[in-house]
Amino acid sequence: MGREQDAAEALRHIALDESLKGYVLQHPPLYKTILRSAMRFIGGETLEGCLEVARKINQQGHAVTIDFMGESTRDEKMAAAATEEFLRVVSAIAQQNLQSSVSLDLSHIGMVIDPELGYQNAVAIAQAAQKAGLEMMISMEGTDRTTLILEIYQRLCQQVSNVGITLQAYLYRTGEDLNRVLQSPGKVRLVKGAYEAPSELAYDRGADLDAAYCRLMETLLTRGKACSIATHDQAILDHAHEVIERHAIDAQNVEFEMLKGVTYDRLQAMGERGYATRVYLPYGKEWHLYLCNRLAEYPPNLYQAIADAAIFS
Ligand code: FDA
Repeated sequence: MGREQDAAEALRHIALDESLKGYVLQHPPLYKTILRSAMRFIGGETLEGCLEVARKINQQGHAVTIDFMGESTRDEKMAAAATEEFLRVVSAIAQQNLQSSVSLDLSHIGMVIDPELGYQNAVAIAQAAQKAGLEMMISMEGTDRTTLILEIYQRLCQQVSNVGITLQAYLYRTGEDLNRVLQSPGKVRLVKGAYEAPSELAYDRGADLDAAYCRLMETLLTRGKACSIATHDQAILDHAHEVIERHAIDAQNVEFEMLKGVTYDRLQAMGERGYATRVYLPYGKEWHLYLCNRLAEYPPNLYQAIADAAIFS
């Protein structure tokens, strides 16, 4: 277990190494090899490929949320290009009548260049999504960005009613953030938290984190807040089901959301219990951080990743 935790920590560190990400992107043989490991978790490199995967998942009875992968854009033109791509995602989902929302990182569309730029780009996507009858879900990033993301989210809520926010149960501050967010119209997606975080700000993976997740989840469920229980943790899924039954909660506003390629059988089982289900489906070339996080949160995936990378080479 100690070795697995070390591997997980190293992978979380590698995930944030932007020079390594650049190196992989610029070396096609390396990129193609590691892409084969990433494919298990993503909808492909292009929107067109991702839409095909989305349709298949819809046919299996699950909604999806499509994310054009990327974060920490440092260049205004690239932020504009990412915004354009998200607008393409919105119109493709609407045109093809897919059961899908759109998910994004605010830092992908300019938030770290200038918060105002991130906000304006987010408004453009949210308004297009609202016009198309779609939801836009904001992902949560590293701890240095939490406050800014929540501020932009609150501003967006004054303009549109279709924007949701992701909260990370591992942060000690999340109870207070949740109280504020409960007043806003959008859905809350509750996750454990994937980024490296200092121990003075966040719980480590383990019983305390799981208890914090359950407390926050119970608040969402009992307050009737539209929410996405975004976890693969079987004990938490069972607990959610038990809370919903015990309090006779109308589950209309509740959905269970998991990542593509992770514990599909558990998603299927929640669907069979009668709940709405959703698969998070990212696409694009910027899968470096995403793949590292998937391996870090479950290090046995490393063996699978090696097998996937080697299989056709
Ligand atoms: P945990 O990691 O404790 O895993 C519980 C069990 O689930 C494991 O024992 C294993 O059985 C299974 N499992 C989990 N991950 C697995 C994997 N990769 N492969 C195989 N089995 C696995 N984070 C963040 O910081 N910001 C965000 O915006 C988001 N967004 C987001 C959206 C959605 C829809 C999901 C499901 C998750 C996120 N996350 C996220 C990631 C989240 O913070 C967290 O890292 C992962 O969901 C893994 O945590 P679990 O809750 O599954 O528990």
